[in-house]
This record gives sequence, C-alpha cells and structure tokens, in this order.
Amino acid sequence: MKIGVIGLGYWGPNLLRNLLHIPGIEVIGCDEDRKRIDIIKRNFPNAEYTTSCDFIDDPDVRAIVIATPVKSHYELAKLALEKDKDVFVEKPLTVSYREAEDIVNLAEENNKILMVGHTFMFNPAVLKIKEIIESGEVGEIYYITSTRVNLGIHRKDANVIWDLAPHDFSIIFLWMDTEPKYVSAVGKDAVLDGLADVAFIHTIFDNGVIADIQVGWLAPSKIRRTIVVGSKKMIVYDETNPQEKVKIYDSGVQLKEPYDYGEFLLTYRTGDIHAPKIEGTEPLKLEMEHFVECIKKRKNPISDGKFALKIVKTLQMANESLKKNNGG
Ligand SMILES: NC(=O)c1ccc[n+]([C@@H]2O[C@H](COP(=O)([O-])OP(=O)(O)OC[C@H]3O[C@@H](n4cnc5c(N)ncnc54)[C@H](O)[C@@H]3O)[C@@H](O)[C@H]2O)c1
Repeated sequence: MKIGVIGLGYWGPNLLRNLLHIPGIEVIGCDEDRKRIDIIKRNFPNAEYTTSCDFIDDPDVRAIVIATPVKSHYELAKLALEKDKDVFVEKPLTVSYREAEDIVNLAEENNKILMVGHTFMFNPAVLKIKEIIESGEVGEIYYITSTRVNLGIHRKDANVIWDLAPHDFSIIFLWMDTEPKYVSAVGKDAVLDGLADVAFIHTIFDNGVIADIQVGWLAPSKIRRTIVVGSKKMIVYDETNPQEKVKIYDSGVQLKEPYDYGEFLLTYRTGDIHAPKIEGTEPLKLEMEHFVECIKKRKNPISDGKFALKIVKTLQMANESLKKNNGG
C-alpha cells in the first residue's frame, strides 16, 4: 500500500518514519520546499520524494497524510477526499467548525476513512489513566487541570489555543467521554499582535466536571502536566517525567456527618503514592499502525472526523470567548 505524506517540516517526518516501519507500506513524501526534502531524504532514503503533490491524483496512492500548517488542512483534505483517498490530517482538523463539518461530511459521503492526529489518544500513559478512571478507583471526578507551556515555537497561522489545546481537549474528552457545555478563555498576544501566545481556558463538562487548561508559548520551562482530582484518589500525569509519568495519590478529604450543633468534620487523608508501569511504545507508531489498520479493515478510527469536529467546536468556542474578552 502506498501512502503520500504532504508536509515534511517539523512533524511530518515523524509520521513518515513511522509509516516506513510498517511492513508492506511504501511512502511518497512531499514538501513544496526543496530544502526540506534534501534534509529528510538523507535520513529516510527508502521513501520517494517530490515537491508537487500531484500524487493525490495517482490511483496507486491509497491514502494521504497531511502534516502542513493548519490553514492548508481544509483545501488539501478536501482535494484528497474528492480524489477518493483515505485521509489522515494532523490536528487540529481545521480552524473553523464549518470547514471541519464539510470535511467530515465529504468523508462520510465518499465512504472514506478520515483520521485526525490527536496523538495523545495513542499515548500509553493517557490510555492507562483512562483505564484507572473507568475502573472507579478515582471515584467521582471533581475537576481536571492541564498545563502545556514552554518557550516557543510561535506559529504564524494559528494562535496557541489552536496549536496546543487540541492535545488537552483530546485527552480530557477521551477520559470523560463527553464534551464541554461551557467554554471561556482569556489570553494575551504578548509577542505578535493578534496572535495569542498564552491562554487560560475554563470549561464545564456535561457530566459536571470542571476543567482548566493553560497553554502557552511564553514560559520559562516546559510543563506538560495534567491533574485529575477525584472523590477517592488523585492522579498526576507528567509527560516530561521519563520514569514516573503517572502517579496515583491515595489522598482526599472526607466529610463526616454533622457531629455537634450542626458542625461538620473533615478528615484529610494522605496515603500511598503509586506509579503504575507504562509501556514505552511511541504513540506515533500506534497512531500510524491504527491508520493503516483502519484503511485495510474499513474500520472507524478512534480519532475519527466526528471526534475531531467536537475538538474544533470547543477550540472555536474558546477562541470566540478569547476575542470577546480581550482580543488575541
Ligand atoms: N500531533 C502532534 O503532536 C503535533 C506536533 C507538532 C505539529 N503537529 C501538527 O502538524 C502540522 C504541521 O506542523 P509543523 O510543526 O510540522 O509545521 P512546519 O511549518 O514545521 O512544517 C510544515 C511543512 O509543510 C510544508 N508545506 C506547507 N504547505 C504545503 C503544501 N501545500 N504542499 C506541500 N508542502 C507544504 C512547508 O514547506 C513545511 O515544510 C500542524 O497541523 C501541527 O498542528 C502535530
């Protein structure tokens, strides 16, 4: 099976590399910038390369992977679906709900696989936490906080919400199995006018869980930390910790019945901290294998167009709130 990868900048080569490792997959890579091709070709000589995406028309190419800047996702995905290809689009699917809906409908009408690169849905740590939450070990989820900040890289075509928050939303949507009914945001375009590089997003989910997300390209150090606080236990997920990415805290607070003149008694519990073993498999390997399997078996991907549409809807709500509140 031959798969075309469009966009060989920062991220595309990771997708290309993982596709090349799948038995029976041939890859043709495309970037309009010849210099990028020269660099990538040296590292991965066993793919074909071109500066024109004409292979979208080639009947030998079965599927297209799009890893270009987000503003170009809509046109490229539309073209590939119209040419009867299965399509993988990097996150976010598009930068507007209307465009995302168009792409999802087109894929459905043409009976094509549409998968979106919500990589964290293939991350063993994220999947482990989903398993723990679903087992009931954490109890009722009270709230979630997620921090995804570092210094750079400023994108020119999308603000920090469109760039980084898809990760937090995809993780939380996967865990909660639902989407927010309320989204508000404030942010700041500190460096480039009109392009927020820091944002704080507040959400309330259908199931009553509140989640707070902080994203930024303007922070002194890299933080990738999500905290889940439940009625029985608490979880800290730190993607930057190589050994103990997930820690489960047997901690909480219990309200005892009123014991005297209506006064209540709270007991705080700080128990063991447990770090479950997390598989070291590269999420992108699992992601690309899933795409190929979905193509072969005509299965609906976990991160399908409908899931991605919910993410775009939430990102758009956050951006509308940001604009209303303080521009950026
Ligand atoms: N899933 C993840 O964790 C993750 C991480 C980083 C980036 N991304 C996503 O990957 C996508 C690309 O991001 P990036 O950081 O690699 O961007 P980038 O700017 O580094 O690279 C984009 C490349 O696409 C090429 N390109 C642009 N338009 C083209 C076209 N029409 N035809 C051929 N080539 C074209 C450019 O020359 C450039 O080399 C974005 O959607 C981004 O959100 C995902």
